[in-house]
Amino acid sequence: MPQICPKLLADPGPAAEPFARETIRRLGQVRAQLGRRALILGHHYMSDAVIGWADAVGDSLALSRLAATQKEAEFIVFCGVHFMAETADILAGQGRRVILPDGGAGCPMADMAAPEQVEQCWQELARLGHGPIIPITYVNSSARLKAFCGRHGGAVCTSSNARAVLAWALGQGRRALFFPDQHLGRNTALALGLTPREIAMWRRDAAVLEGEAAQARVIVWDGFCPVHVEFGPADVARARARQAGVKVVVHPECPSQVVALADDSGSTEKIIGLVEAAPAGSAWAIGTEINLVRRLAARFADKTIFSLNESVAGCPDMAKISPTNLLASLEAILDGKPRGVVGVDEATARQAAVALERMFAVS
Ligand code: 13P
Ligand code: SF4
Repeated sequence: MPQICPKLLADPGPAAEPFARETIRRLGQVRAQLGRRALILGHHYMSDAVIGWADAVGDSLALSRLAATQKEAEFIVFCGVHFMAETADILAGQGRRVILPDGGAGCPMADMAAPEQVEQCWQELARLGHGPIIPITYVNSSARLKAFCGRHGGAVCTSSNARAVLAWALGQGRRALFFPDQHLGRNTALALGLTPREIAMWRRDAAVLEGEAAQARVIVWDGFCPVHVEFGPADVARARARQAGVKVVVHPECPSQVVALADDSGSTEKIIGLVEAAPAGSAWAIGTEINLVRRLAARFADKTIFSLNESVAGCPDMAKISPTNLLASLEAILDGKPRGVVGVDEATARQAAVALERMFAVS
């Protein structure tokens, strides 16, 4: 379940710059004026300065579910990245508008699978034969790719339900094409018991299949998250040497060699749940975005919590959402001139919704 967030950050503290104090003061005012007309959703990777303003905080799946079920707010202000706002727009339905405070907050991994490239891959795989394929897109993808999956009998997945969705696809006795994250695709296929030889990879630039086409049950796209691929096997060894008894938990966007060495892996929500449930005195090395790791460390002072690799920077796109552009978004709504509205055209949204509904049905 998404966490309902207390408004922790109303006081910026004595060191805050005057402009920051003014921004926070205005945010408090405007937020109160908007009341239930606006619902602010925040992903776990937001900075502390932003997340304190969110009405609900969650991972991609939890936030999608909220966007689909909440019927009260006229505006959903999404503190996250573009694909999340698009997904919310598809699920929120008529009468609600979704706002992204910085339209430039994208996801490089999502951009690694262009719809034209996926069509090309699809045609090539059909030419190679070996039976029908179910396309699965990670939620970190454009609405057009979700629509592609909707049209071709496929589904969307998130890091929370990738296993259930991929098992569903393979349970139909067919093969699956998984895009755009090779690591989530590979990690999930391995977790389902597939052997490395049953996993092939589509090289998008060369437009070739790498691996054994006839044996492949899961074909992963060659995309990746630039943040999570920075965690390597040596980081796991270093964390274990630094802290005896440490539990290593990583996001499944990390390479499979890291996941294999870790004690556990899972979505941001799962990582939080593991740390919450752990006893005082336990130690955790976490391989995911730094804002979340630092927040967990601050929240659980009775546990030792550190990043699996302190030198891995945060997600630059998530960092584009700031109190300043959040304030500007809320003020624009109040002025009756909403800006940063993320809209998906009706035909695309209808087909993408089919793939999202399949995900909800399976997970
Ligand atoms: P979660 O769904 O696990 O929150 O992940 C989203 C994401 O973008 C991770 O990089
Ligand atoms: Fe995309 Fe990675 Fe940033 Fe998540 S952390 S939004 S996958 S670039």
